[in-house]
Amino acid sequence: MKIRTIAAVLILPVISIAALCVPYGCLGKQETADDPANALYRDASLPVEDRVSDLLSRMTLNEKCGQMALVERMFLKQDDHIREYGIGGILSGGGSAPHPNTPGSWIGMIDSFQAMALSTRLAVPIIYGSDAVHGNNNLAGAVIFPHNIGLGATRDPKLVEDIGRITAIEMTGAGMHWNFAPCLAVPQNERWGRTYEGYSEYAPLVSELGIAYIRGLQGPLNVNEPVSVIASAKHYLGDGGTLNGKDRGNTIATEEKIREVYLAPYKAAVKAGTKSVMVSFSSLNGKQMHAHRRFITDILKGELGFEGFVVSDWGGIDFIAPRYRDCVRESVLAGIDMVMIPDKYEEFLLTLKALVTEGDIPMERIDDAVSRILRVKFSSGIFETPYAEKSTARLIGCEEHRIKAREAVSKSLVVLKNRNNILPLSKKIKSIFVAGKSADSIGNQCGGWTLTWQGLSDTTIPGTSILEAIRNAVSPATRVSYSENGTGGKGHDVAVVVIGELPYAEMYGDKENINLSVVDADAVDNCRKEGLPVVVILVSGRPMIVTDYIAGWDAFIAAWLPGTEGAGVADILFGNVKPSGKLPYSWPKNSAQLPVNYGDEVYEPLFPFGFGLTFQ
Ligand code: BGC
Ligand code: BGC
Repeated sequence: MKIRTIAAVLILPVISIAALCVPYGCLGKQETADDPANALYRDASLPVEDRVSDLLSRMTLNEKCGQMALVERMFLKQDDHIREYGIGGILSGGGSAPHPNTPGSWIGMIDSFQAMALSTRLAVPIIYGSDAVHGNNNLAGAVIFPHNIGLGATRDPKLVEDIGRITAIEMTGAGMHWNFAPCLAVPQNERWGRTYEGYSEYAPLVSELGIAYIRGLQGPLNVNEPVSVIASAKHYLGDGGTLNGKDRGNTIATEEKIREVYLAPYKAAVKAGTKSVMVSFSSLNGKQMHAHRRFITDILKGELGFEGFVVSDWGGIDFIAPRYRDCVRESVLAGIDMVMIPDKYEEFLLTLKALVTEGDIPMERIDDAVSRILRVKFSSGIFETPYAEKSTARLIGCEEHRIKAREAVSKSLVVLKNRNNILPLSKKIKSIFVAGKSADSIGNQCGGWTLTWQGLSDTTIPGTSILEAIRNAVSPATRVSYSENGTGGKGHDVAVVVIGELPYAEMYGDKENINLSVVDADAVDNCRKEGLPVVVILVSGRPMIVTDYIAGWDAFIAAWLPGTEGAGVADILFGNVKPSGKLPYSWPKNSAQLPVNYGDEVYEPLFPFGFGLTFQ
């Protein structure tokens, strides 16, 4: 006994000095006297707050810092770094998928990361995040819904809630826990490349649909919900208000406008229980949001009472200051709880730890951040069911989900012109001439954030193109021909010309002018030259300038970015469904007029916010 005590006195200091010498100790090998296997925090019957404080009280500084790290899967140098550093979350950036891109590979990958996390001393599970912004779009075979701009046109919160639910099922079936959605931007200038990610230019509509989506995604709160995915309302705050619509730019606004337009949807989302909020790359009145303590800590967490955690955007803290150390300090002090690093996690962890041990970040701030992350992990049931819910994998891309997406497409289309009631077309019409670069491109229909970050015109994603949908809708006797550039249509009864934008995401979509391209205008003209009446369908992430052309068109439909289910477009063309979509954005007359928004003192758009025709 005595000898053991003496040995302990001699050896323990040596061990702890050795531990100090290792700049960042190996968590997996640490042991403590009490066995966490029977710890309070493991008891699912206890209130979440009791579990959080018990677990927090057992954690070392290394373990706490690890929880605050969010790493992209491609940058993980070794899988066992999850164990070694006790990393809190892993993500997929746009298009970052395992090979082959199947539910089985996703489950295998995420579950193996999870096994690493669970093999740590305290066995705190990771959460795996992904941008499932219009369905589970990083997963091949998932149903792709219309982008938010189209959902804004539906004005249908129940539908948006169902889409949130289906997305949760298709994510859970691939092992993912956390969705970087919904985007609660209130885009004010269609020059912005992310306009299509926002439901509307009108904040009350963004709030209504945003909370419906959160309800669907997360499921009923405080219920043991088997399919529940953590939402992330983004990008806080003012991402849609930047000057000239510049992505990651500066939003200049009065306190009154900030609250009424940009903050309102977050107020609603916090009330609806969103479990995380992502910070915007943009600045607010010249101050970077990633360092905005007043808006993150005082207003979001204080005034609005947000109890979940705040996550930074992709490397978003790196732009705060020239020195990385200052970036980490300012962002964490501003109130960011989890940092989407996404690459240099070793440097981040060393820096964060040094800032705490050197007194530049108080331990209370770290404890607050980690408590918030743990609260979400506990309340989402991830401690109890850390591994993939394989039973929902068979539902990915299923018929029922596609039917819902098709319904969303038909409800999202906005009919802007219908001269002499040319629409709906008869299914028994003798011949239809289909033209335009987006008539036979599921990739163009889907837009950005589809299998890749930027999206692709050519994609192997299963679905129905608009051309195919037209072919399926008409009677067998109807002749359907197709020519991309619109030449050769002579003798057909009508032309359906599907034009618009090629896929893009984020800053790659910023455009000074949003005019129709010459190629598109020519495709329509070529049909008109042959004397055909033309029905123009615009597939785009925003309104485009059609002022000089529309007089010559017989019908004009804004189809936004409808996703994989082109049949919803045919449902409107042939009158299976009466159009009900209403413009979620004002339709500008010309690019020089931008920004033009509902409520402007001088308001002279081509079509006003809320416009949309129907059939008799
Ligand atoms: C990633 C995206 C991310 C972007 C940020 C890309 O490489 O795939 O997910 O949004 O970088 O710049
Ligand atoms: C985007 C976010 C996205 C993140 C992860 C960023 O570049 O701004 O919307 O969630 O990347 O892909």
